[in-house]
Amino acid sequence: MEAVAHSLCRIWLLFLLFWLGQGRQMVPPGFVESSCRSRIFWMKLNKLFLQGKFFQLEIYDPYAGPILLDEKLASHCGYVLSEDVWGNPVFRASVLGCHVANEADELFTLTVNIKVSSFSSMRAAVTYTYPMYCSYPSWASREIVCEENYMEVSVKTDVPAVSNDYTVAWMSALPETQNVAYQQWQLMFVSPSGRKRVTVSDAVKLGYSFNNTLSRVYLRAPYHSNESDTSVVNGVNMNMVTSTSMYRQRWLLLLIDTTVSCPVDGISFTDTMLTWTTPRVIPTLVVQESTFLSKNIVMGVDDQVIVNPEDKNYLLEHNETHIRITIPIGAEGGKLKSSISGGVYGVIYSIDLFLEHTWTDAGWQTTKYTVIKSITTPFMPQMPTVINNTVPEERLFNVAFGHFLPDVSLVAIAIGNVPFTPREAQYHEFKVYETLFSNRTKRFILEVSFDDPYVLKEYVNRNETKYTLLVNYTLSVGPEMTLYYHSAEVECVIADIELPEAVGSCDEENLYLTLPTFGLHQYWELYLGNTLLNRHIALTNGYLAAINSTHLILQIPLFAVGVIYEEVSFQKIKARFDVALRKVRTMETLQMFSISCSFNSSEFIICHPDGTVMISAQMKTVPGIDMSKTKLRDSSCKPREYNEAHAFFKFHVTTCGTSARFEGDHIIYENEISYEKETLPGQSIPTITRDPDYRLTILCYYQAKETLVLGAFVSDPVTSPPGTMGPISNTAAHRRVRQALNVVSRVSKGVCALFGGSVLSYQHTTWQHLQRTVQLKHREEGPSRSPFSQSPGLRTCWTSTDCCSRSKMTHGN
Ligand SMILES: *[C@@H]1O[C@H](CO)[C@@H](O)[C@H](O)[C@H]1NC(C)=O
Ligand SMILES: *[C@@H]1O[C@H](CO)[C@@H](O)[C@H](O)[C@H]1NC(C)=O
Ligand SMILES: *[C@@H]1O[C@H](CO)[C@@H](O)[C@H](O)[C@H]1NC(C)=O
Ligand SMILES: *[C@@H]1O[C@H](CO)[C@@H](O)[C@H](O)[C@H]1NC(C)=O
Ligand SMILES: *[C@@H]1O[C@H](CO)[C@@H](O)[C@H](O)[C@H]1NC(C)=O
Ligand SMILES: *[C@@H]1O[C@H](CO)[C@@H](O)[C@H](O)[C@H]1NC(C)=O
Ligand SMILES: *[C@@H]1O[C@H](CO)[C@@H](O)[C@H](O)[C@H]1NC(C)=O
Ligand SMILES: *[C@@H]1O[C@H](CO)[C@@H](O)[C@H](O)[C@H]1NC(C)=O
Ligand SMILES: *[C@@H]1O[C@H](CO)[C@@H](O)[C@H](O)[C@H]1NC(C)=O
Repeated sequence: MEAVAHSLCRIWLLFLLFWLGQGRQMVPPGFVESSCRSRIFWMKLNKLFLQGKFFQLEIYDPYAGPILLDEKLASHCGYVLSEDVWGNPVFRASVLGCHVANEADELFTLTVNIKVSSFSSMRAAVTYTYPMYCSYPSWASREIVCEENYMEVSVKTDVPAVSNDYTVAWMSALPETQNVAYQQWQLMFVSPSGRKRVTVSDAVKLGYSFNNTLSRVYLRAPYHSNESDTSVVNGVNMNMVTSTSMYRQRWLLLLIDTTVSCPVDGISFTDTMLTWTTPRVIPTLVVQESTFLSKNIVMGVDDQVIVNPEDKNYLLEHNETHIRITIPIGAEGGKLKSSISGGVYGVIYSIDLFLEHTWTDAGWQTTKYTVIKSITTPFMPQMPTVINNTVPEERLFNVAFGHFLPDVSLVAIAIGNVPFTPREAQYHEFKVYETLFSNRTKRFILEVSFDDPYVLKEYVNRNETKYTLLVNYTLSVGPEMTLYYHSAEVECVIADIELPEAVGSCDEENLYLTLPTFGLHQYWELYLGNTLLNRHIALTNGYLAAINSTHLILQIPLFAVGVIYEEVSFQKIKARFDVALRKVRTMETLQMFSISCSFNSSEFIICHPDGTVMISAQMKTVPGIDMSKTKLRDSSCKPREYNEAHAFFKFHVTTCGTSARFEGDHIIYENEISYEKETLPGQSIPTITRDPDYRLTILCYYQAKETLVLGAFVSDPVTSPPGTMGPISNTAAHRRVRQALNVVSRVSKGVCALFGGSVLSYQHTTWQHLQRTVQLKHREEGPSRSPFSQSPGLRTCWTSTDCCSRSKMTHGN
């Protein structure tokens, strides 16, 4: 059946002439589209023409004029006003509708007024008149339409033709014949509550529409009327009106089965599919099921029959009991719409389907059964994904966010909690763009440099940086433009930090450490054992620090705290200085820098924490003495090595006649290097000798608290300027002791900051520099522990077991 424009041009012109000049206008091109789908007028209004406007439809009644279309009128008269999935208003009308002009059950005309106004009151509305023409000559014996808001059955009332001019004869008898016939019709409803016989006019009051046309009788019923019944057919709920239409004349009783039954459910969903199932055989409509024969089953979308459903990934199946249509969610023909429900992003899919089933059976020659169904899935949550496409080598975050339907747009994007519009983002050198896929979905791509100030950076592991991009998307979703937020955190760890390499060097009196300053204090710190090597500690320890724009140069005097003496022998000290490169915060040691040098040193004393004393003593007497004859208090303790100018002793504080005494909280070990005067043989006291008096007092100060060991040495020629020599007097010796004690009291102030065996050393030749050269030496050999956390009663050993027993022993003294 198709529109029969040619033969109807005349009528169309008539309408035009009728309405032109009455404030009515021509329909703008593209505003209205219509078609005839089988026996249904199908009209669509383009929503673009209605933006910001209000509209109404009027049905033009050839006798009564325009009638406003409302819900009641619609279901009663065979009209439907709804929307297609794209939001365009759709109007459908049965050709058996109340106001359709019917020409011999073949040509049908319906005129609709479309009123458009900018006001909800429809003031100043523009009226467009739209006539529709459909031709439908090929009626089946029975036709059933299950529309959204009504069920309609029409059956052929076959009366054998009496002459060839049968049609003409009927036509000429109109309208009287029809009218008379109508008067005689009655309807009998059969429902669970019993039988109900009503006249046609009473049926209208009950919401039904009953009439006859030239060759047919039809009944239109609303769903769920009082006379209807609900039954389940093969698992599908059906609404059913069982009725018989009766036409009675004196000698004629015509009974027509006008039973109608339509499915009211049968739709199910999965995450990916929607399924619409209808029973293939509806028992109340098929009297003799054994004679039932399906002739044709077609499906359609909107007003179009789909000839090859598989081409569109639809599935139309049928078996003995059911007809089933399966549509993949998102399939073409339907529409996916983005939505937000309970703060969750998701989609809704809708599609307008119809099913047309033609069958034959013994009771009826042919039945054409049409179901029109608008299907909308429930809200389907769909977590949008953030995809990390970062290529670390490019030092650029590349993050995709999707997929989204075209009805989603990016409103803002917060990077590191700072919101930007997409436009502002470009300005800040982020890149934000969309990529489209062939299925019309899209993704939002964000590119941000690792070095961007809004990217969080954290130093991790040895030489790596963790870059973290915090992003918070704000989307506008769906036609409602609901705002939706989605935040994500993308990380990338790359090894882009170079650990500094230190260079060590030495001169005669110092060790030097040269270190690039890049990252110092930011990523890492220098530690002396467990002590942070800061400006204050460097100063206290007597280090000298120099900084240029790229490097730090640290000068560590040989006898400064922290220097480790690996090998001490006659005139030679092998010294090492260790400094640890540790991570800030975690204090994890990344690198040890160690400078080790050998020094030619002729004068020194080192009091080891384990009680070993090593001393290289210089001969300073005039005339010279034989250094091989020097000795400690215990004269069996001779120099280990010597030459004309030096003697090297090594002994333990428990041997060689070393005495110990307490002074304050120190133990002072004292010994003395002396020279045995050469007595002239055979002579008795008093004796005369050439040899000068040589006496060198050795003092090692150890902290009396078990935990700390401190040594000090005070050399002999206290009163002499460096380089000069003189005999030692008693007064000098007395003063010497006092001086030495002064040193101790100075030192003890610093003791609390010491940890581990400490050595107080004094460089013999430079007396004036006593104060400067007295140094606290600090050794790191024990467990890591804060020096301040030491509780006084607690005894800890951190050097060696030897030290422990030693300190215990001295304590017991
Ligand atoms: C259906 O039945 C109810 C209760 O009997 C009645 O109130 C209602 O008016 C009836 N509906 C129609 C359309 O007749
Ligand atoms: C039946 O149809 C005729 C002809 O179209 C019409 O005049 C009459 O009003 C209709 N009756 C009802 C009840 O709709
Ligand atoms: C026919 O199809 C329906 C729906 O898919 C199914 O539930 C039913 O079991 C099938 N019947 C037969 C006889 O295969
Ligand atoms: C659209 O295409 C993309 C890329 O091929 C795919 O990942 C996505 O799942 C598709 N979306 C839909 C709704 O088909
Ligand atoms: C993202 O932005 C929205 C709106 O400003 C805010 O409510 C939400 O808490 C943010 N999310 C995160 C994880 O920061
Ligand atoms: C992002 O991708 C980069 C490069 O493949 C990878 O190194 C990084 O671990 C990823 N980050 C996350 C959070 O997946
Ligand atoms: C980082 O350290 C690892 C070993 O921890 C090393 O293999 C790598 O070469 C270092 N990379 C750089 C850039 O220093
Ligand atoms: C800083 O001092 C280091 C070590 O002496 C040297 O190698 C470097 O060239 C100096 N840098 C500048 C900028 O002077
Ligand atoms: C140390 O002394 C030795 C022997 O006297 C000499 O060969 C060497 O050069 C000296 N080293 C330094 C750094 O003075």
